[in-house]
Amino acid sequence: MSINIVSCKHLNYLLSASFNPFCLCPAEFWGDIAKDFFWKTKHTGQFLDYNFDVTKGEIFIKFMEGASTNICYNVLDRNVHERKLGENVAFYWEGNEPGDELTVTYRELLQRVCQFANVLKSQGVKKGDRVSIYMPMVVELVVAMLACVRIGAVHSIVFAGFSAESLCERIMDSQCSLLITADGFYRGDKLINLKLLADEALQKCRDKGFSIQRCIMLKHLSKEADETPLGSRSPPAKRSCPDLQVPWNPEVDLCWHTLVRGASDECEPEWCDSEDPLFILYTSGSTGKPKGVLHTVSGYMLYTATTFKLVFDHQPDDVYWCTADIGWITGHSYITYGPLANGATSVLFEGLPTYPDVSRMWEIVDKYHVTSFYTAPTAIRLLMKYGREPVQKYKRESLKILGTVGEPINPEAWHWYYTVVGEKRCPIVDTFWQTETGGHVLTPLPAATPMKPGSATLPFFGVVPAILNESGEELEGPSEGYLVFKQPWPGVMRTVYGNQQRFETTYFKKFPGYYVTGDGCRRDEDGYYWITGRIDDMLNVSGHLLSTAEVESALMEHKSVSEAAVVGRPHPVKGESLYCFVTLTDGVTYNRTLEAELKKQVREKIGAIATPDYIQNAPGLPKTRSGKIMRRVLRKIACDERDLGDISTLADSSVVEQLFQNRCRMGV
Ligand code: WTA
Repeated sequence: MSINIVSCKHLNYLLSASFNPFCLCPAEFWGDIAKDFFWKTKHTGQFLDYNFDVTKGEIFIKFMEGASTNICYNVLDRNVHERKLGENVAFYWEGNEPGDELTVTYRELLQRVCQFANVLKSQGVKKGDRVSIYMPMVVELVVAMLACVRIGAVHSIVFAGFSAESLCERIMDSQCSLLITADGFYRGDKLINLKLLADEALQKCRDKGFSIQRCIMLKHLSKEADETPLGSRSPPAKRSCPDLQVPWNPEVDLCWHTLVRGASDECEPEWCDSEDPLFILYTSGSTGKPKGVLHTVSGYMLYTATTFKLVFDHQPDDVYWCTADIGWITGHSYITYGPLANGATSVLFEGLPTYPDVSRMWEIVDKYHVTSFYTAPTAIRLLMKYGREPVQKYKRESLKILGTVGEPINPEAWHWYYTVVGEKRCPIVDTFWQTETGGHVLTPLPAATPMKPGSATLPFFGVVPAILNESGEELEGPSEGYLVFKQPWPGVMRTVYGNQQRFETTYFKKFPGYYVTGDGCRRDEDGYYWITGRIDDMLNVSGHLLSTAEVESALMEHKSVSEAAVVGRPHPVKGESLYCFVTLTDGVTYNRTLEAELKKQVREKIGAIATPDYIQNAPGLPKTRSGKIMRRVLRKIACDERDLGDISTLADSSVVEQLFQNRCRMGV
């Protein structure tokens, strides 16, 4: 079934490019777009140069090399000075607690960014240095990231839901010289003492022989009366927490507010080459160790700006809201860079969709007259459980476009989103992309691409997908197999930070000549793409990718566990849940206390998002004669599906029956 809502202005674009990406030369297409941006110097070499084929040498992608620019200048100064948008609102910040709010214009944002850029410089941060940012969803997070890129420093943002251990691992991998964090924040009712976690991470780094010299802390909850981080217009947080115990190490710690108070609000940007590093963002890797995905300046800038503009059909009076956290790529590309490059007005939300009640999203939509709303299927499924009434309490008349990202959206959730939230007026853009792709790669254009619930539809301009079979042959017409891309687009990642070899092995070795996404995909008779899910050892829990190996090694660090195997089990809200099998060391008996300890262990090692949903005691695991764990069989056991297929390679098949029986007693 396809749904077509009024055909419209982007149809010509679509017909000319998306159905036949070869009819536009990428240099011409992107060259035209580049004219709207500021370049200190023009590019010198080829517009786009690349090698996607490992058999021909090192993999590289170079876009507009030799041109110099600054992304902060383009998203702020250009809007304030050239486009005269200084008084336009950049962000409506909506805190966790209703009524806790703040409005920031482009001019104010520019001033704050310049001030903080000067602070960073005064702390010795230079072009190319890595800065780690571990902050809640506050405006200062955007200020910190843009201040970094203004001076050519490379930000590495770590989602504030990650554990101290995860933060430590990321700081050490990118060898950051400075950490920016906050005292704490509320997620719904729950208080998170972020500084405590940051300190723990820095201590872990020291224990491993790496020390960070400076840590700048924003007072978010423990604000003093005269401290208004964004100027006099900032009201004190409604839900402040003056008693928060904030550990302080005078040798390392610096107060954001004190530093900013004396800083000038003018700062000449550092002009960077198009291919200079812009940021590092870690994503789960199938070996268990996260990969530092590296993006560079110009390609990422043009790609996020253009995808934002076309995929959300951005118009000057729109109010856009993306509910992601900036700690993930969706927040980087579609809260910070894409919207700001377009001079857009966005909502920046600190809280949860269910706090203080399940109408919060729609209350915010009405409050700010949100026109484009971008969220994840897991949030939709969560809200669906509460029915229509909480949605219908609010009018939602302003809504024009609804977006989704992060995992395949099941048709039931799609229909609820379309019918109940959008009242059949709003096209849904189901955007498929990855941390690695920088921006949308398969996506409808709203009101131009006929929609099919559950399909991310067609490629964006210049993106050339293919479907391969196991032998690496390209399949034509309706088919199913590995989703790959045949040529680069400006926003594609450039390398894994500090590990080019891992970059090539992960994405280019399996099928020489192609970028391999790691996703399975089906193409239907209309040429539409349907993502069928990960085909590597990665799980997608609430739209977040987790590697099974990472969870397994966290479990195995517990002294009572000798072996662990983790698989995904379908979950009605989260998409997938974590089902863990553990084999205990001799003499240890399984009980509730141990189970709770194991859950805590994973939470502490990785973060709350990786907390196991189920743990099953597995005295034996199904293995092949060569000792390989047969995860396919474990997935069946997790789902209680007896149809196991061919298990003739199992060394000991009685293990399987035991696991089924054990499972039943667990009552899952
Ligand atoms: C999945 C998030 C189906 C996919 C932007 C991909 C999707 C992984 C979609 C990347 C979608 C993302 N339909 N699957 N619209 N969007 N995915 O790096 O498996 O956190 O490879 O980037 O999420 O997750 P990541």
